[in-house]
Amino acid sequence: MPRSLKSDHAGRNNEDGNDRAEELTIATQTETITVCRLSELPEGQMRLVEADGRKIGVFHCTGGGLYAIEDRCSHDDGPLAEGEFDLGSCTVECPRHGSLFDLRTGKPRTLPAYRPVDTFEVRVDDDEVKLEL
Ligand code: FES
Repeated sequence: MPRSLKSDHAGRNNEDGNDRAEELTIATQTETITVCRLSELPEGQMRLVEADGRKIGVFHCTGGGLYAIEDRCSHDDGPLAEGEFDLGSCTVECPRHGSLFDLRTGKPRTLPAYRPVDTFEVRVDDDEVKLEL
């Protein structure tokens, strides 16, 4: 779904000396990819997909929550999706230095990582798991 951002810059004068409003529109395009059927990603499982030039881990937490994060730790580029996945707390532990990331927000709960990783919207449509990029 395209999104647009609009910004008005009021207060400038045009050649006639009148105020003018300048509108800037930035349109971005989201891409939807099909990960798998929902039955192929039961609770406690993770699927690694490659899209848009990067790897993304799609995780199924307790209670039906589906979350996706970039498979690259914000500390030192560790392969996050290979880490230990706790479906109850909905976290993954970076296998390289042990930072624990919340899959719902992408934020680290423990050091050494302190910056969040990218997250992506996941939805189920017609029994298929879809990822929004
Ligand atoms: S690379 Fe992930 S905690 Fe260091």
